[in-house]
Formats: sequence, C-alpha cells, structure tokens
Amino acid sequence: MSRETISPGGSIDGAAELPGDKSISHRYAILAALAEGRTEIANYASAADCRSTLECVRRLGVEVESSDHRVFITGRGLDGLKEPRRELDAENSGSTMRMLAGVLAGQPFRSTLTGDASLRRRPMRRVIEPLRQMGAEINSRDGDCAPLEIRGGKLRAIDYTPPIPSAQVKSAVLLAGLYADGVTTLRESVATRDHTELALREFGGSVESARGTISVQPRPKLTARQLVVPGDLSGAVFLIAATLVLPGSSLMLRNVGLNPTRAHVLDFFISMGAPIRVPNLQSRNGELVGDVSVRHAALAGGNISGAQVAEMIDELPMLAALGPYAEQGIEIHDAKELRVKESDRIATLAAGLRSMGARVEEFPDGMRVEGRSAGKLRGATVDPQGDHRIAMALAVAALGAEGDTVIRAAECAAVSYPEFFATLKRLRGAS
Ligand code: S3P
Repeated sequence: MSRETISPGGSIDGAAELPGDKSISHRYAILAALAEGRTEIANYASAADCRSTLECVRRLGVEVESSDHRVFITGRGLDGLKEPRRELDAENSGSTMRMLAGVLAGQPFRSTLTGDASLRRRPMRRVIEPLRQMGAEINSRDGDCAPLEIRGGKLRAIDYTPPIPSAQVKSAVLLAGLYADGVTTLRESVATRDHTELALREFGGSVESARGTISVQPRPKLTARQLVVPGDLSGAVFLIAATLVLPGSSLMLRNVGLNPTRAHVLDFFISMGAPIRVPNLQSRNGELVGDVSVRHAALAGGNISGAQVAEMIDELPMLAALGPYAEQGIEIHDAKELRVKESDRIATLAAGLRSMGARVEEFPDGMRVEGRSAGKLRGATVDPQGDHRIAMALAVAALGAEGDTVIRAAECAAVSYPEFFATLKRLRGAS
C-alpha cells in the first residue's frame, strides 16, 4: 500500500496531456471485439479499469495486443465470441461489468461476470432488469449484486426507460440491442454521456438519437477502425481544480475530450468564476476534442442538483472538495447515486474533508461543504477507502491546507489516472 504525502503551497505552471478517456476506451475495446478485422486504438486509457475490459475481452476469445498506449484488437464479428473458460473479472470497473452484461446477454453461452469487493457491493439490478426483459437469463447474488451468471441467446427488442439516468445502463441495453429481433429503444430524461452511440456509428452501426430517445438497429456489420481516444476530461478536472486552489497557477491541457455530454463541468467552473478557455476544437471519430486552458481565480461556489448530478456525476467529489476554497462553499442535492459508486462517495469525502477541518453537512442525497469563512483546511491523514476519485479530490484539497496531508493507499488513483500524482508533482515543480 503506498501513501502519498501532499505538502501544500507552490503553484501550477505548464502544460499536460491526459491519459485516454476511460469511458471511450471501454466502448472502443468492446465494439472492436464485435467488429470484423483489426482495430487500432491510439491513446487507449492507462486506467486499470480499461485493462480489466481488455482482459475480459481476451477471455472471450478475442486477440488483444498492446504496446505503449496503442491497443490492437482483432474482432471476431457479432457472433464470434467464445464461451469463456473462467469467470470474467471486471475488478473495480462498473462500466466493464454493466456494458459487458449487455453483450453477454446476446451470446448463446453461459458466462459469469465478477469483480472486486467494491464492485460486488454495487447495484446491478439496473442492468439485470432490462436484459431479462429482452430474454436473457441472469442470476445474481440477492437479485442485485455480482457475480452475475448470464445465459444469453436470442433477444427481444424493447422500449426501455431506465428509472435513473445512467450511461452504463443505456449502453448495456444498446449493446444487447445489437442482438435483438428488432429496433431497441431507450429513453432518457437527462442526456447522459453518448460515447456508445458515437462509437457504434464509427464502427458502422446504425443508431438514431433525438430528444432523449435513442434507437439502435439490430445485427449491424461492424467493421474495424483506426481510432484515437481523446484525453480524459474527468481526470483533467483534478488538475484544473489544483490550478484553482493554488494562487498564481496557470495550466494548459492538450487534446482533451470535450463531448458536450461530459463538458458541463467546465461550464460549472466558469459559473464559479474560473477563467477557462477551450481553443483548437475539432471533431475526431465523432468526438469533440480540444485544449483547455485555466488560470487561478477566486471561486464563488455554487449549488448542484437535478439534471446537473447525472451530467457531472464523476466530477462531484472534486467539486465538493473545492467547497473550502469557494466564497459560498458547495452544496449538492439529488445525488443519492454517489452512495453506490466505488465507495459511498458522500460519506468517504465528508469524513476526509472533516478530518482536514472542513465544515461538512451530510444529507441522504448530497452534502454541503462550507466555504472560505469556515477557515483554512489543515493537513491530516485521510483514507479514500480505495476510491480513486476521492484520493485525487482529497489530494487537491490538501494543496491549499496548512501542513502536510497523507493520503492512505493512494495507489487506488490508478483505477482511472495512474499518472496523476507524478503529473501533479511535475506541474508544481515547474513553478
Ligand atoms: C460511465 C457512466 C457513469 C460514470 C462512470 C462511467 C460510463 O456511471 O459514473 O464513471 O462510462 O458510462 P452511471 O452510468 O452509473 O451513471
């Protein structure tokens, strides 16, 4: 177990590239496996979660080679996956488990998806239900949790409205829809990330999407592609926040994924007073990519609720941890989902911030972190409970504290951003 000690002060100055986007990498790997031919994916995520996806795909008989941040996947076509001899281990990755469940629902064999202790506690009924409606047989622990034993086969097309907005559930249903007997439709009240739709189109699938209704045609011929994964905006957010915590800082991030369904967090930063610019916008493989520049500025603070929660779900820990640096603090509601992420993110973050002296009120569906008037944070030893985004959020909060902060078992950051601590060090060293 490695601990990271964060000494406060200094400033951020320089430029950085982000590792490949985690969400997009999962989808490219899964669709490449179902395509015909050899797909090349450049800048594939270094995130441990995306390695888990590659390993699962390998166990389904797909040839996967990788060198540097380039991955080559020789797809076996829609009907070419092989019955796995062993369990498919998604480790810490909810996206891997939920999206693969959709694919496995359409396979004429039995397979088992499992994960680490955190993932085995997370709710899976949200994918089990629609996939059962489509005709898959799925057994789970207590009806909700992994391991999931899936016996797939011929599927019925459905018209489905998930009870909670979730890109993972949407993706599971759309992927299963590739194996259905007609057009599968999914309706969402909040536009969640649309990487599956965009990637399916890139591979030659047919997906229509208008006003929250997404429909996928079954049995497309998917064809191998050369793809480049944009930098991960959800990882960039930690570096942007560090720039906002440390006076005198300025940062340029290159080749960042700016898909509008993911970029709401930049608008929120701007609404708090952050000077952010996004030059060099272009479209690559259907995804918007650009640079992001940010300078330090005083933050106003703000409230997050309703649709904003799904739109910024992975960024909420970092935004909450900026509360003590914002004039009015940060208040979050309608975010019960945070309690069933890699950890109970409301409880874990509240505990970490409180031990650093922050004034935090916890609600069943959110939290309030008091602003500057509650006083300066002080260094402490904090435990992110194995949750990558909490480890990084607390590390950034520690940059403006008084005294050193020790992040226990900080290696969990590698689940999404293995280079985070080294990049933070490099950018601070330049000042
Ligand atoms: C993801 C969707 C979100 C997000 C997760 C990645 C995806 O989960 O929190 O980190 O890649 O589709 P939900 O679909 O559960 O909201």
